[in-house]
Amino acid sequence: MKRAAPAGPRTRRTGYTSGSMRTACFVCLLLVSAFLAAAAAQDAAPTPAMMDTPGVHILKGLTVPEFQDEMNFMVVALGVNCGYCHARGNFASDANPKKDTARRMLEMVNAINHQYFPDYKPGKDESRLGKVTCFTCHQGAATPATAPGGGIR
Ligand code: HEC
Ligand code: HEC
Repeated sequence: MKRAAPAGPRTRRTGYTSGSMRTACFVCLLLVSAFLAAAAAQDAAPTPAMMDTPGVHILKGLTVPEFQDEMNFMVVALGVNCGYCHARGNFASDANPKKDTARRMLEMVNAINHQYFPDYKPGKDESRLGKVTCFTCHQGAATPATAPGGGIR
């Protein structure tokens, strides 16, 4: 009885090489398709929901993340926290009179920007309000200085 001759080193190496080539090609394909999928996902990134609730009267037409950014800009501009304008535990409530003042300030800022800076396009990380923002006047203070610090003399 004769056993089948063991595969020669040459055959074996060839088999090994083509196997690893196939694996390499497969990995390569996986990478390419993963990359394409990521690119497609970026193209078709889901548009964030619009901030559209009955309590929002002035800051309209913003996405939820944009709206949140505006709240954060106001916090920084006035040097306060959310509770300065909002009733505790209820952002939709109008019980805090500062919220009403802030709404009037928003209207004023919108009016200034529409009239005097109509062509200004805010950059990616800037306030959607426009060129003039709460910070322009407030500079980190809830009540902005309306006269030079040490007087004019
Ligand atoms: C300077 C005042 C002020 C500060 C500070 C402030 N907000 Fe607001 N917030 C407002 C005003 C004014 C509105 C209503 C805007 C409108 O009517 O267009 C509002 C609306 C909201 C709403 C929408 C509520 C609704 O009716 O659906 C949320 C949520 C909110 N603010 C969250 C926050 C958070 C969170 C912070 C802190 C990071 C914050 N706000 C800080 C003034 C403020
Ligand atoms: C053109 C300058 C200017 C801009 C821009 C401005 N403010 Fe004001 N703000 C003032 C002045 C001046 C006062 C003080 C009014 C007073 O003493 O009665 C004030 C007062 C306030 C107050 C009341 C503070 C207190 O002491 O009770 C709030 C709240 C406020 N501003 C919010 C805002 C927000 C929010 C924005 C941006 C949307 C903004 N302001 C933009 C000038 C400005």
